Order: sequence, then C-alpha cells, then structure tokens
Amino acid sequence: MSTVLQGLRRVVVLLLLPVVLLLLAPAAQALQWTAETLTVPADPSGTTVTFSESEIKAGRKVFNHSCGTCHAGGITKTNQNVGLDPATLALATPPRDSVNALVDYMKDPTSYDGETSIADLHPSLRSADVFVTMRNLTDEDLRRIAGYILVAPKVQGQQWGGGKIYF
Ligand code: HEC
Repeated sequence: MSTVLQGLRRVVVLLLLPVVLLLLAPAAQALQWTAETLTVPADPSGTTVTFSESEIKAGRKVFNHSCGTCHAGGITKTNQNVGLDPATLALATPPRDSVNALVDYMKDPTSYDGETSIADLHPSLRSADVFVTMRNLTDEDLRRIAGYILVAPKVQGQQWGGGKIYF
C-alpha cells in the first residue's frame, strides 16, 4: 500500500513540477524589469532616463527586425571588435553608451574612432534607400531601440555582447 502511495506521490510531484516552473519563470523575469534596470544614461552628461517595460519590449522588436541580422545578442557579426556591449560603446569616439548618442549613430554612423562617416556602409536613416529595414522608423522607434541596447546588458549580463566569449 505504501509503495502505491509513494508511487502516486511521485506522479503528483512530476505533474506539478512543470506547473511550478511555469509559475516561477515569469516571476524571475519580472524581477529583472525594475526601475533600476530600466534606467539608463540619456546623454553623456550623466542625465538618466527611465523606460517603461513596454517601451523596451517594443525596442527589442524593432531592434531584432532592423539590426538583428548583424547585432543579435549585442555582438557585431561582421566586426567582432565593435560590439554593442556597454564597455565597447563607452570607449567609442564619441562615447555611444547613452540614448542620445545611439540615436545619433542611427542617423549618422561614424567609424569607431569617430574620424569618418560610415553612413553609406552602416544602416542609418540616411541610407534607408539601401537598407530597407531602416525605412519608416520614427524618432520614437530609434529612442526605444537605444533603450533596448542599453537595458539588455543590465538584464542579460555578460551574455549581451559576449560574442567573443560565447562563440
Ligand atoms: C549589415 C550589418 C549591420 C546592421 C544591419 C546593423 N549594423 Fe550596427 N554595426 C555593423 C558594423 C559592421 C559595425 C562596426 C562599424 C565600424 O567599423 O565601426 C556596427 C557598429 C554599430 C555601432 C557602434 C558600436 C560601438 O561599440 O561603437 C552601433 C551603436 C550600431 N552598430 C548600432 C546598430 C543599430 C541600432 C542597428 C539597427 C538600427 C544596426 N547597428 C544595424 C553592422 C550592422
């Protein structure tokens, strides 16, 4: 009898486990979308901006569509040295680790040393005739993409832009 009960208990535990995991997963996810992780530098002066969760999710969607082919996960497939991780963005000239600087890049991208315009090579509003995924992007879209690029490493840690390690 007790072995039957034990067997039953095991079945119940096995059945409940996925349910418990399903309940816990969103809770773990929700913890990461805090005011702290959603707050990022607005400009180089140190002013910050706090995004809403829905803005960042919208930004992720546009990012995946317009930038994902080259920058999925925050790396740069065609130039592993210039990723979208905070450290690399911070060391660019001018520093690109703020919303305004990233929006500026999407309008007028420059080489990592800031010396030359790469507007003809890198997708931007100026090259939307060649890079079709840049068409119809509003200033609000650009702001949300920038927000996603800066929030993602705060949520994902090293995995964002860690292509050099993870590939
Ligand atoms: C066709 C591939 C491709 C696509 C699509 C693309 N990029 Fe890039 N991106 C690159 C390459 C290559 C570089 C490195 C450029 C260089 O030589 O400095 C780069 C560099 C950057 C940098 C500078 C990173 C740093 O550390 O200074 C930013 C910011 C950036 N991209 C943002 C975007 C955004 C935002 C989008 C989408 C709107 C996008 N990119 C779409 C290829 C791409």
